[in-house]
Amino acid sequence: MPKRSRPVSVPAIEQTLALLVPLRRPAAARAEGGYLDLLGEQDPTGTHPGQRLMLSDTLALIYERLWRPLGGRLLMGVGAPGTREEHRMALGMLELASHDRVLDLACGPGNFAREFARVASEGLVVGLDASPSMLAVAARHGERANLVYVRGDACSLPFRDSSFDAVCCFAALYLIEEPLLALDEIVRVLAPDGRVALLASCNRGLLPAGLTSPIVRAVSGVRIFARDELTGALRSRGLTDIRQHIVGLAQFVSARKHP
Ligand SMILES: C[S@@+](CC[C@H](N)C(=O)[O-])C[C@H]1O[C@@H](n2cnc3c(N)ncnc32)[C@H](O)[C@@H]1O
Repeated sequence: MPKRSRPVSVPAIEQTLALLVPLRRPAAARAEGGYLDLLGEQDPTGTHPGQRLMLSDTLALIYERLWRPLGGRLLMGVGAPGTREEHRMALGMLELASHDRVLDLACGPGNFAREFARVASEGLVVGLDASPSMLAVAARHGERANLVYVRGDACSLPFRDSSFDAVCCFAALYLIEEPLLALDEIVRVLAPDGRVALLASCNRGLLPAGLTSPIVRAVSGVRIFARDELTGALRSRGLTDIRQHIVGLAQFVSARKHP
């Protein structure tokens, strides 16, 4: 895809505002607390305990160093890639280049968004999450000229169609209330030839996901996706070049939007 040239003089926040659907644009662009809050009193997080946990200040503080590496090990077992390897995998799946516009969907405390901002140094990275606690920690890592954090809902993205060259959604689809709606939104905001990278749960047991997922979800908030559920959902939304890599109880999935 020919890369769009973007004037570096336009501040990242202005570039982000220009990507918003006009009706969703705030009257005043205030990034109080280091992020642009487009949700206000709304909370799309869901009511299950695992979902509510994402709003905890304490979890946000220990997430990157403790919770995420431990969670990754639990989900992926002994073959779990370390943090650096996961960054490398995400960059590879997204084929990230220096001028890309990237959306890190459900970015948590920015543990991937910061890496994307380093690589897409001439582009723009938007980290979107619903949790004020996570975003507050993300913002505390300091400003970067090409990185903006937005508080929004993955199931109703505020961006115009085809806004991003790459969309990453790691370790979040299984917590999002309506993951297939979020997939619709990912595909909508992805530019033609854009790439998507997902990390989600994957059913590996003898019982079908249709049986295990509701039980696991009721106690933890985590949804277990059937082995072909996400690849099938991407295919049915017209994406191509779909690749799946299963590690333990997790799956990395990448795909491309038709040029
Ligand atoms: C486990 S964290 C993942 C963070 C990061 N992507 C990673 O790979 O470590 C899941 C994130 O999903 C966010 N989340 C859950 N539902 C959401 C929604 N509807 N819209 C936006 N973010 C949501 C939570 O607030 C949380 O920060």
